[in-house]
Amino acid sequence: MLLNGDPVGFDLDPETPLLFALREAANLTGAKHGCSDGSCHACTVLVDGRPVRSCRQSIASMEGAVVTTIEGLSEGAGHAVQRAWIEEGVSQCGTCDPAFILSAVALLETDAAPDEATLAAIPVRCPCGSGARARKAIARAARSMAAAAPPTGEGTARDMESTPEKPSD
Ligand code: FES
Ligand code: FES
Repeated sequence: MLLNGDPVGFDLDPETPLLFALREAANLTGAKHGCSDGSCHACTVLVDGRPVRSCRQSIASMEGAVVTTIEGLSEGAGHAVQRAWIEEGVSQCGTCDPAFILSAVALLETDAAPDEATLAAIPVRCPCGSGARARKAIARAARSMAAAAPPTGEGTARDMESTPEKPSD
């Protein structure tokens, strides 16, 4: 796999969940282990640009994939979503932040102006109650990215299908 831009191979059981390989072998601890049933989405990373629960993916299934964790998202001043996170004061315990931010980055790639229902459908859970501020920050990031974007002609990212991972039952 290509992990945050670097080719990486793990000398681990191929069925090892990606989450544990990231956290324990690659020392990338941004993705969090928040549950044991696939419900929290705190372990979300981007795989080929889409949000994926890393606890549900084996490293074998990641062969050839492009994996991005929060550590690889940006350099310097950070991504617009990260800046909006700070400006809106979203963080409390911080457990859900990497997953929320990466999910937002993927969403904004396909929907430049997500509505409330779309934001509410982001499956990352925040038991600390930061969800409303997170959604506000994503909307802020969308506005700042739109303001920074050059004018476009026909056909925008909004026309593309949004494919956030859905919550599990
Ligand atoms: S750790 Fe909760 S869904 Fe992966
Ligand atoms: S889980 Fe604590 S801030 Fe979201």
